[in-house]
Amino acid sequence: MKKIARAHTNIALIKYWGKADAKLRLPLMSSLSMTLDKFYSDTYLEKTDGPNTFILNGELQSNSTKDRVFKYLELLKNKYGITDNLIVNSINHVPTAAGLASSSSAFAALAAAFCNYYELDLSKKELSRLARLGSGSASRSIYGGFAVWNKGTSDESSYAYALEEHPQMDLHLIAVELNAQPKKLSSTKGMQLAQTSPFFKPWIDRNDLELKDMESAIHADDFTKLGSLAELNASEMHAVNSTAVPGFTYFEPDTIKAIKLVQNLREQGIECYYTIDAGPNVKVLCQLRNIKNIVKAFETSFNNVNIVVASFGSGISYLDR
Ligand code: ADP
Ligand code: DP6
Ligand code: CO
Repeated sequence: MKKIARAHTNIALIKYWGKADAKLRLPLMSSLSMTLDKFYSDTYLEKTDGPNTFILNGELQSNSTKDRVFKYLELLKNKYGITDNLIVNSINHVPTAAGLASSSSAFAALAAAFCNYYELDLSKKELSRLARLGSGSASRSIYGGFAVWNKGTSDESSYAYALEEHPQMDLHLIAVELNAQPKKLSSTKGMQLAQTSPFFKPWIDRNDLELKDMESAIHADDFTKLGSLAELNASEMHAVNSTAVPGFTYFEPDTIKAIKLVQNLREQGIECYYTIDAGPNVKVLCQLRNIKNIVKAFETSFNNVNIVVASFGSGISYLDR
């Protein structure tokens, strides 16, 4: 019986932002993430006599969203000698292309759905490599908890592994959806432009140290260290964007307002840190005891924003259709 593949999104605490090889999606840095429980993609495949088809959230896709999926399908089909045309049916329980990591859950779920459909018996490591070819961040969504994507130097050596699949750490992520509309500049394009920044080399050079520090914060169960390092790493990523030639930013006025709110909360003794990906939305890292106060502060400062309180999610799973 063919299954639905479910993959959760992951948010990087040490970010992937730069490629050594665009086609193979080999990164210039290793990254470390937290898989989330509240955001995920469910994907399943069907054979068709017609052309390849992509249905997202019940709607037939006809734009660039579809081109990227078809390109990836062709890659999978060529790799495993499959000639069928396929219908990809997917539901995103996450805003699509808004900087909330939809590509991480999407391509992990698609890779897993493909392997399930054709009964390919891949190890987690092989599945991570396969997902990476669809979207780099998807390599990490194979696993729950904390995952590390070791950059590697080749298709064979670039994959993610679980650092801790079921962490006991008191760590929560409040996603503040300031603008859930699809972004104009994809992550793929953004990270390519970022390479023109004079700070791009220092950004890469700091990766070894930042990753090592983050791993030791996790092992020491040190929330303060984890949060500060994550906030610094995200700020560095956005600094290379604003100093690229030409400069650009994913921030919107509300993004700055949210950053200031996090800083104010901290001054008041409510410990929290932000991280931001390729989009205007802000994720706040905190501990259980502060969730209520932080959510209240965001609700007071912003009208009608969707706020989702997440914690650790699980790795790839398969559901009956
Ligand atoms: P995000 O910040 O959401 O990860 P990206 O620019 O990295 O944004 O990737 C968004 C792209 O991922 C979409 O334009 C689409 O091509 C692809 N995508 C998103 N959700 C799905 C899905 N459920 N199935 C297949 N592809 C998807
Ligand atoms: C800022 O994995 O979306 O979220 O490999 O080109 O698909 P592609 O990029 P993608 O980039 C993610 C960028 C990020 C940081 C991260 O998740 O590590
Ligand atoms: Co993405």
